[in-house]
Amino acid sequence: MSTAVETITRPIAESIPSSVTVRAAANPAENNEQGKTEEPYRYARLLPVFPRDEHYPPLTPFDHIDPGSRALSHPNPRSFLDNASSIVQLTPHLGEEVRGVSLAALDSDGRDQLALEVARRGLVVFRDQRDFVDRDPEAYLEFGRHFGRLHIHPTSGHPEGYPELHLVYRDANATYNFEREDRITSTTWHSDVSYEQQPPGLTTFFLLSQPDTGGDTAFTSQVAALKRLSPQFVAFLRTLKAVHSGVEQANYSRAGYRGGVVRRDPVENIHPVVRRHPVTGEEAIYVNRQFTRRIVGLKREESDAILELLYNHIDRSVDIQARVKWEPYTVVIWDNRITAHSAIVDFISGGQRRHGVRLAPQAERPIPALDGLDLSA
Ligand SMILES: [Fe+2]
Repeated sequence: MSTAVETITRPIAESIPSSVTVRAAANPAENNEQGKTEEPYRYARLLPVFPRDEHYPPLTPFDHIDPGSRALSHPNPRSFLDNASSIVQLTPHLGEEVRGVSLAALDSDGRDQLALEVARRGLVVFRDQRDFVDRDPEAYLEFGRHFGRLHIHPTSGHPEGYPELHLVYRDANATYNFEREDRITSTTWHSDVSYEQQPPGLTTFFLLSQPDTGGDTAFTSQVAALKRLSPQFVAFLRTLKAVHSGVEQANYSRAGYRGGVVRRDPVENIHPVVRRHPVTGEEAIYVNRQFTRRIVGLKREESDAILELLYNHIDRSVDIQARVKWEPYTVVIWDNRITAHSAIVDFISGGQRRHGVRLAPQAERPIPALDGLDLSA
């Protein structure tokens, strides 16, 4: 990585160099275990870059076979947890915390079981995964590809040479996240890149550096959220489809934020408002404030009212949410199809580094809960 660096504060609209690189060891105040006073920064090779010469063609459709489906016929589809020292259900509706199981040691069968477990619990938090986190980036990719074709994010930073690794990054000098500072709260429930025709399924995320406190991640169950609604209303929602758009996110980068790079033209896609999980068959609400724009075929006021009702329901329902507090070497795997999540940006004043890596294997095109729902327009 180049030592000639640009530390970018926002916006950077007219001053983007040919390749924007984050300065290593930018945060002397950092004192968590993984970032402790090391020079250079231990994970410097995984700092984000934003090459200006990268441009990718549109994503193409592909067939996705969910690995969790292979575990359905397993005689004991939770045997990959046999050696766990601790399994704690985070909440009744979603979330599980596991200690004593090495993700790095899982074979293909274990990964299939993992996919089924995550599909059933929404998210699973694996603690003490140093063997996984400190592996070579190639090993991250090999792990992620088991669960689907790895998504390359159109605007985020990635480590040099690894565009499939989506990075979350903030330190005392810079942020490369998609965050709006003109809002009362940083809470933004969303399902990652839901504007893609085949959005991610089993999503893996881990932090390389974290603040002493703060920077937790919130999750909610879109399955439980749907079950709270009346049968008549759910029956109506099943008939609806909505437009999801990547345009605003791309415009944010084009305005000079987040590294200022758009590597693939933004897309909009139509998805069912209620989708069905391909393995468990569970139905989930599939709209989010970040990317969903309107319900197809309804008048503007009708669409706005229904979406706002669903968003408010999701925002308020702490009784179907779980909050993950990060520890060094924690790896979280969630099912992006049946959960929503939000960053909790409460650590800015401390000036500490938060540096995360996400693997987002794409899954199937969302399956409508209502058989035969036409998604073509
Ligand atoms: Fe996200």
